Amino acid sequence: MSDSFIPISKPMIGPRERELVLDALDSGWVSSIGKYIDAFEEGFARYCGTRYALAVSNGTTALHLAFETLGLKPGDEVIVPDLTFVATANAVAYTGATPVLADIDPETLCLDPASVRALITPRTRAIVPVHLYGHPADMDALTEIADAHGIAIIEDAAEAHGAEYRGRRVGALGKCGVFSFYGNKVITTGEGGMLTTDDGDFWQRARRLRDHAMSPTRRYFHEERGFNYRITNLQAALGVAQLERIDDFLSRRAEIMDWYRQDIRTSDRVRLNRVKNWAKSAYWMVCLEADGFDTARRDAFMQALKARGIDSRPYFCTMSSMPMYRQAPVPVAARKAQIGLNLPSYYELTRSEVRRIGTEVNDLLKTMDAV
Ligand SMILES: Cc1ncc(COP(=O)(O)O)c(C=O)c1O
Repeated sequence: MSDSFIPISKPMIGPRERELVLDALDSGWVSSIGKYIDAFEEGFARYCGTRYALAVSNGTTALHLAFETLGLKPGDEVIVPDLTFVATANAVAYTGATPVLADIDPETLCLDPASVRALITPRTRAIVPVHLYGHPADMDALTEIADAHGIAIIEDAAEAHGAEYRGRRVGALGKCGVFSFYGNKVITTGEGGMLTTDDGDFWQRARRLRDHAMSPTRRYFHEERGFNYRITNLQAALGVAQLERIDDFLSRRAEIMDWYRQDIRTSDRVRLNRVKNWAKSAYWMVCLEADGFDTARRDAFMQALKARGIDSRPYFCTMSSMPMYRQAPVPVAARKAQIGLNLPSYYELTRSEVRRIGTEVNDLLKTMDAV
């Protein structure tokens, strides 16, 4: 058994990635025009089951572009989960609109529809389900609320490429879906993002805003303020190669999750990812929660795990705990942020490494009296 350090995540870059990136480089099309951008957008739309996809510079700009395309402005409210990566709330705030923080379901870690319903006001313009750690949100319940009030759903699927809700891929379940291709994601382009939508007008407008909203008929004339949120052909070449292998990546993630389920001793006080019967998770992150933890004990556990050569990450901090969005704690989200952590999961992680992680986790939980 090797005792080498096990990181939380590693990208899987192979010969095909090298081949396509070098081809893009040799073609001279190194900026934001080129065949790989078109191929990546077409392939990703097909994969998600949407009519359109738009590749952008990262997941945060994808979110911002979606909100700008929706026309959010100061005074508007957008419901986001209190437990998410900060980009979800920040991208709302970039438009001048206000992120309104809803609680999460204790099993899926995604938006709790009852909490969302209670936060709807005449100013609510959108709901943003975040498919956290790869598990889809309860989209039927959220769609019902959105439809009843005539408001849009923008899916934050940054962590959930290939996840399914009742047999339908995320990214195709709202007005627009948003993805990230950061190095630790299910597929990567280094930095990169994507918008998916069935709405041709939405796609056209997002496409124009992505490129400084330049007039299609008059070069260097701009009818409104846009952005440079373009991706490069080099990044898209990497994306095309990664997309060819996404099924393999996802089945390996599911297999790794199965190994963890065999090796970590769970109970009603120690839990791994819970998956609803209507969901297929992308298992972006392996999630471990122990009811015996608080923030200090969870952090001490992670420290001890690191000393034994195993990396981990705490769950995200809640938005309501941060200076920009400070408010009274949101109960389920606040508790989860104290007791949750993520364990390593990446393509090359071996069966024996997961066994080693399981042994150390079981031992430390027992030592810390957290079982
Ligand atoms: C839920 C969520 N939304 C948005 C983002 C932003 O993506 P990016 O890091 O590509 O800007 C992330 C990213 O890491 C994320 O986890």
